[in-house]
Amino acid sequence: MKTSRKQFITTGVSSLFAGAFSNKLNAQYYAVPNTGSVEVAFNDEKYWHTIRQLFPLSKDFIYLNNGTMGPSPYPVIEAVKKGMMDGDQLGSYSGWENTATKLAKFVNVNDDEIALTHNVTEGINIACWGLPLKKGDEVIMNTHEHVGNALPWLNRQKVHGIVIKTFTPSLTAAETLKSIEALITKKTKAIAVPHIPCTQGQIFPIQEIVNLAKSKNIFSVIDGAHGAGMMPLNLHQIGCDVYISCCHKWMLGPKGTGFIYIRKDFQDTLQTYFIGAGGDDNKWNMMSNPPKMENYATSAHRYYGGTQSLGLYKGVDAAIDFIENIGQQNIYNRINYLGKYTQDELLKLGDKIELITPTEPQSRCAVNGFKIKGIESAKFYQTANDNKIKIRVVPENGLNSLRISTHIYNNTHEVDELIHLLKKQL
Ligand SMILES: Cc1ncc(COP(=O)(O)O)c(C=O)c1O
Repeated sequence: MKTSRKQFITTGVSSLFAGAFSNKLNAQYYAVPNTGSVEVAFNDEKYWHTIRQLFPLSKDFIYLNNGTMGPSPYPVIEAVKKGMMDGDQLGSYSGWENTATKLAKFVNVNDDEIALTHNVTEGINIACWGLPLKKGDEVIMNTHEHVGNALPWLNRQKVHGIVIKTFTPSLTAAETLKSIEALITKKTKAIAVPHIPCTQGQIFPIQEIVNLAKSKNIFSVIDGAHGAGMMPLNLHQIGCDVYISCCHKWMLGPKGTGFIYIRKDFQDTLQTYFIGAGGDDNKWNMMSNPPKMENYATSAHRYYGGTQSLGLYKGVDAAIDFIENIGQQNIYNRINYLGKYTQDELLKLGDKIELITPTEPQSRCAVNGFKIKGIESAKFYQTANDNKIKIRVVPENGLNSLRISTHIYNNTHEVDELIHLLKKQL
């Protein structure tokens, strides 16, 4: 049952404020408001300010680049430290496996459909090399791919002769879907696209893309680098074969953590190449003649192998708790609000600014891409940097544009600072 925000404020936030403004780290810094079942207004600046205090992110600059790296809040950092300390004090080796269960719940799938990885690129390599593809088979991708999704597939093209066909994202979801449909031939075996391209943060119509793939017996492999943590995810509902994400961007978790979802019924279609401890049914035997292994583990955990960092995965647990305490829907609402605010402010600057992110609500969220007419993006990037504002230049697809990405630790004043700087250049 939803409690009112007023009730929450009186019971929860007062103690948080007490700690938040102190310079010393103390337990109150880690007191994340428990609003998961409360609807928080996306523009409740007082509330979101308390959230900002939970991040050690320096206030010496304005950070508008969550799309590259999501700074962790104190509770995550503390959990990493504690996880390392526990492991090293007790000499324990395991405990990290439980994170798969927590992540599975977080994205609404089953525990045996998630394998932990270290980043998105690792998960993409598992999927790309495991798909049963032969020379001449076609894979649909887009021209805005991040290098982490592009290179594994390009390498497979080089090594195995698969054929990559590309479309360029359109300004509406419907047109993007049409462009994908137009590329499908009898040889199309996979659609391997991002949920949200890194370039201008457009939300692809992922449900429709997966439905289209399913209707034509085409594999769907989604690069969800920007999905997890930005919005509530129900991967069973989406129905893709594979969804790959990381915990170090929108989930605000430790860097070097990620996961791959492999749909249960798809697990035996995907060939396993990378394997180690936990990857088989534990019947491998080097003393039989000949030495042999029998079956893969009957879960996505077949991709495990080797020592993992207990601390990092305890940090992922804490990141999920952090998100769920605040509420993933509340986070989405705030992020979406800041993204729309940024877009509106950019549009107000007139035709000297070319917004390259769609404005239709279903295709935009936290990330905005733009170009400045007559000014090199690299030059403005440097100006922003000199003025202590961190954004990203986007060389992908020859765009040479700029990208602003905002998360819950940001506010509209920070966006205003960037807009002010832009105005001075126009
Ligand atoms: C869309 C997209 N895919 C893949 C990656 C690669 O992620 P990772 O560094 O976790 O491998 C990124 C990173 O920015 C990305 O934005």
